Amino acid sequence: MMWRLAILASGRGSNAEAIMRYFREHARIRVAALLSNRSDAGALVIARRYGVPTLTFDRTMFYRSEAVLEYLRAQSIDYIALAGFLWRVPVHIVRAYRGRILNIHPSLLPSYGGKGMYGMRIHRAVIDGGEKYSGLSIHYVDEEYDTGKIIFQAKVPVYPDDTAERLAARILRFEHLCYPPVIEMVIESS
Ligand code: GRF
Repeated sequence: MMWRLAILASGRGSNAEAIMRYFREHARIRVAALLSNRSDAGALVIARRYGVPTLTFDRTMFYRSEAVLEYLRAQSIDYIALAGFLWRVPVHIVRAYRGRILNIHPSLLPSYGGKGMYGMRIHRAVIDGGEKYSGLSIHYVDEEYDTGKIIFQAKVPVYPDDTAERLAARILRFEHLCYPPVIEMVIESS
């Protein structure tokens, strides 16, 4: 039995790549699709390199039709990992995949999460807030932004002379290390 994982990504796709690399030779889990809301997403280029089927969609298709859900079902997708995916997941997909959609967020949720907290904005806010630590959170996806049950967190230090860019890079390295095995653990323990 092969579990089939889909990745949703909007951007450069470094987490998507870490996931595809990790599961490339996996005996029980296969990355079976990569979906994006942006036709220029780097994640799509990487997926094609890994031979992973891709789908792009626009707002209308995502929110006003069930085409994406139908695609996920047609591909027999069991789990979904969001990796730098910037849109809220529509309710009909959350319901169909409840407890089987994961997201990674580069802060220690519930701090520095929610609508508008993405990319460098997060790390700038952490530095402006004078935090000694930041990190990453992997959580289940529900109908809101960044509020689903937390599965895993890792703490990363913020140094006094840090820039948002350096903090982002430090956290991203840990994202690549942590996200694939946490996805594996969630799927294998289901
Ligand atoms: C990561 O920091 C992830 O935590 C956040 O968006 C960023 C995506 O980077 N949700 P990438 O596209 O995976 O390189």
